[in-house]
Amino acid sequence: MKLVAKRLDVVEPSPTLAITAKANQLKASGLDVVGFGAGEPDFDTPNHIKEAAKKAMDQGKTKYTPVSGTVSLKDAIIKKFETENGLKYEKNQIIVGTGGKQVLYNFFMATLNPGDEVIIPAPYWVSYADIVRLAEGTPVIVATDISSGFKITAEQLEKAITPKTKVFIFNSPSNPTGAAYTRSDVEALVKVLEPKDIITVSDDIYEKIIYDGLEFVNPAMISAKMKEKTFVINGVSKAYSMTGWRIGYGAGNAEIVKNMDTMQGQSTSNASSISQAAAEAALTGDQTPVAEMLKAFDKRRKLIVGLLREIPGVECRMPEGAFYAFPYMTGVYEMPGFKKLLAETKETSYSKLFCDVLLEKYNVAAVPGIAFGDDKAIRLSYALGEKDIEKGVSRIKQMVEDLQK
Ligand SMILES: Cc1ncc(COP(=O)(O)O)c(C=O)c1O
Repeated sequence: MKLVAKRLDVVEPSPTLAITAKANQLKASGLDVVGFGAGEPDFDTPNHIKEAAKKAMDQGKTKYTPVSGTVSLKDAIIKKFETENGLKYEKNQIIVGTGGKQVLYNFFMATLNPGDEVIIPAPYWVSYADIVRLAEGTPVIVATDISSGFKITAEQLEKAITPKTKVFIFNSPSNPTGAAYTRSDVEALVKVLEPKDIITVSDDIYEKIIYDGLEFVNPAMISAKMKEKTFVINGVSKAYSMTGWRIGYGAGNAEIVKNMDTMQGQSTSNASSISQAAAEAALTGDQTPVAEMLKAFDKRRKLIVGLLREIPGVECRMPEGAFYAFPYMTGVYEMPGFKKLLAETKETSYSKLFCDVLLEKYNVAAVPGIAFGDDKAIRLSYALGEKDIEKGVSRIKQMVEDLQK
């Protein structure tokens, strides 16, 4: 009997989760592993949020809620959009799901038909392309690189659009590059998108993790017309260190929201009632912990980029947001030791080979850039303490020095 459904032929298990699992396995065997793999903040969820969850349980908020979320959480989301982004939505334009990931999944399942094209700038978050394929769409990958600051240009976008284009995915600040688009960058893209019959998905999950006082801008914020064509995805995972609570939300066209509600109603129904109460407290409560986490991330960002830049053959730009460094390793790939490694293996991805050896021999977990559509780089999440960052990067340096020989 064939146990696997055909639809799974088009997807890969998440490489980020795979690396983290392997690193944890090594750790469990007693090895001192430094983990740059995981895509989640290392801070505890702020206390007032946990208290709100406990209160919700004590008050008996432990039953089903409406599929698309409680009225009070939707009110909090609407207020957040209005005060922070200048975007006005009605309740029927908001949907709450089990993480931003589920909201994205339901969006694509509810909007794509076979053959619809979705433009995804690379390097991209690993799940975009796989979700699009699961929804029988066709990912159209547009490569960007370090020379353009990992941002897609208006010309590149224009060129990628065909009569089949249905969606454009915009993600700023970006996972994996940490690149953030400025207002003028976004305006240039909107100029291309506004006259077209294309939905822009704006994945704002790293909105709060943006450095140097840089303004956060998404396409919906540029014009009323663009807002009509944009579906915004956000959540509490990264901003409030709430990855395990699984609350994300989406806002946009009411008909799309209704269709997503149908999808969700026949799969998971509502997101956890307790987590919804916690997310409401996160959005409406004290925002000081967000600022404190940002400050810690900023310090780590400067530390890790500074240290990476000291390694021969490594080129690393300073990310404007999120908590990832995305150094180019092309100089390292030229080294005699790396060429020797290549000759000894069947592995064709340079970044995967580098990360495999890094984990096995030097006990440092990093995610190969190939997983994000760019084999030139590796991704290091700096959601870990400064001592560990120093230890981890010095091991990477040691590996590179060994490869120089
Ligand atoms: C770019 C991006 N979007 C969305 C998500 C989804 O996060 P969650 O499902 O925890 O809300 C992630 C998580 O890693 C991400 O990196």
